[in-house]
Amino acid sequence: MVRVLGWLIFLGLFMPVLAGTAAPDPHSFANFQQVRTRHLVLDLAVDFTRQQLTGFAEHQLERLDPSINRLVLDSRHLKITTVTFTNDGVHWQKAAYLLGIEDALKGQPLTIQLQNNTKAVRVYYQTTPQASGLQWLTAAQTSEKKQPFLFSQSQAIHARSWIPLQDTPANRITYQARIKTPADLLAVMSADNSANFNRNGDYQFDMPQPLPSYLIALAVGDLHFKAMSADTGVYAEKLWLDRATAEFSDTQKMMDAANQLFGKYPWKRYDLLVLPSSFPFGGMENPRLSFVTPTIITGDKSLISLVAHELAHSWSGNLVTNASWNDVWLNEGFTNYVENRIMQKVYGQPRADMELLLNVRALRNLLTHQAPADSRLQADYRGRDPDEAFHQIPYVKGQLLLLALAQHFGQAQFDQFLRDYFAHFAFQSIETESFVRYFQQQLNSKQSFSEQALSRWLTAPGLPDELALPASDAFARVSVAQQQWLAGKAGLRLLPTTQWSVHEWLHFIDLLPRELTEQQLSELDLAFSLSQSSNAEIFTAWAQLVIPLNYQPIIQPLRQFLLSVGRQKFIVPLYSELKANPQWRSWARQVYREARPGYHPLAQQQLDKLTL
Ligand code: BES
Ligand code: ZN
Repeated sequence: MVRVLGWLIFLGLFMPVLAGTAAPDPHSFANFQQVRTRHLVLDLAVDFTRQQLTGFAEHQLERLDPSINRLVLDSRHLKITTVTFTNDGVHWQKAAYLLGIEDALKGQPLTIQLQNNTKAVRVYYQTTPQASGLQWLTAAQTSEKKQPFLFSQSQAIHARSWIPLQDTPANRITYQARIKTPADLLAVMSADNSANFNRNGDYQFDMPQPLPSYLIALAVGDLHFKAMSADTGVYAEKLWLDRATAEFSDTQKMMDAANQLFGKYPWKRYDLLVLPSSFPFGGMENPRLSFVTPTIITGDKSLISLVAHELAHSWSGNLVTNASWNDVWLNEGFTNYVENRIMQKVYGQPRADMELLLNVRALRNLLTHQAPADSRLQADYRGRDPDEAFHQIPYVKGQLLLLALAQHFGQAQFDQFLRDYFAHFAFQSIETESFVRYFQQQLNSKQSFSEQALSRWLTAPGLPDELALPASDAFARVSVAQQQWLAGKAGLRLLPTTQWSVHEWLHFIDLLPRELTEQQLSELDLAFSLSQSSNAEIFTAWAQLVIPLNYQPIIQPLRQFLLSVGRQKFIVPLYSELKANPQWRSWARQVYREARPGYHPLAQQQLDKLTL
């Protein structure tokens, strides 16, 4: 019936889109420049048996173009059951709607008929097993193995797979939610979580600060909370709770450093949620509650720059947001810069420099095979999956541009500029042009940094020839030691490794020649137990080196690693190396078959594409 109704209004609703101007966000169907959601109310029940969210999303609207009587939302693989609307906020009636043809990238536009004075609409819906933004874990797939777990991952355009909404970073909304779960589980969101002191399966959330849709986040599991300071704490399964609070105990110090450098933290609390090891990313900057992988809990704080990174997004990204994914460097490049400033303040210049240099090495590796067009900061991802826009170019080239500006204008002056930039564009979504205009006015009014140089950074492929990078004494010493060993002048036992940090180890492994003998590999492994490393960064760097060399002792630990870790940064390169080794490829295919059900839908999609 609804479908018939839909077809009847097809012409009225749809033709203006076909005839109209180009979409303002190439990855969204939403008509947010005409009618936009300003407040979202979610009411969802979490059903672990059916692995389904059921309920409604209420959109409170702002009408920007009074001549337009339709609201277009994004959706992907959602089952829409009913749509209602209200003109007075009290009485609700059925609305005519049309779920459009599916686009492989964007999903389906959900077009809803409005009246002149419609204030809000409610979409009643269910999620489906194809939801790319949700991972449902059985009890056996969690750390504690007693209760199931659910988490969302909305960035870049996966929010639409679990909520019908205007899924574009160009629009900001406030939200409220009521989430019903099985009684013994706890739900947490990227919002004020403080109403939920009773663990009763009925939870309320409120997010009064406007955020883009990709920052809406939900997790449900056997979660417990432990405070680290008055305003910071950790949610995790019990098994991780003490280890996580010990690992992240400097979070308040990072917060203090960032406050001082870039202005007062705008989101009230800052908590961390430790996810099951299938979490496909290192971290996700969901406001008030960053999601992080347990692979950074190493016991020695060696990988906590990731916390600095997600915290840094509280300014770069969450407060000042890229208006579309073509400008993702405004989020990730600025965040890498801010992260590194925090690391300098809290852990000192030498460590921050080593981290920067490791980033630059990864960038240079990428540049050896990246398509030149995609090595520009101002990129063009129209018609492509915006998840592909996240690589070393926006992250590290973006960071290097800001570093070049800081060197040119002086650190203190540049940080002051950034502080003003965050305040000026607070709670706005902007494009690169807005940054450039503000920079030219505020910092570069005398044109001392040439317009040409800036535009080369933004629009030319590759890296500028002249890069003033810091030197690392620690790395230099590691290089010398390695050369002595390779030249047969020193045994491994004589290398000064006992004091090496994880960063120095990574430098050491990255620098090793790619054609070592079996004998040399065994010697290294015997001396340093690299195949047994519990640090996922070291293990992955080592495994990537030895897989092409058919080094048998890696087989068992590698299998174990691939079956227990779902972070794409590690598993995608590992499977790629395995695929490239004809002797190990079919073994890898078997491991993947076994591991796949435990991987996140996004990781599954990536790895399926690899065609092991
Ligand atoms: N926003 C990203 C995570 C992300 C990337 C989500 C791509 C969706 C698509 C997050 O802030 C991030 O950059 N995480 C990095 C860690 C960081 C230290 C570089 C990660 O996950 O490895
Ligand atoms: Zn980031």
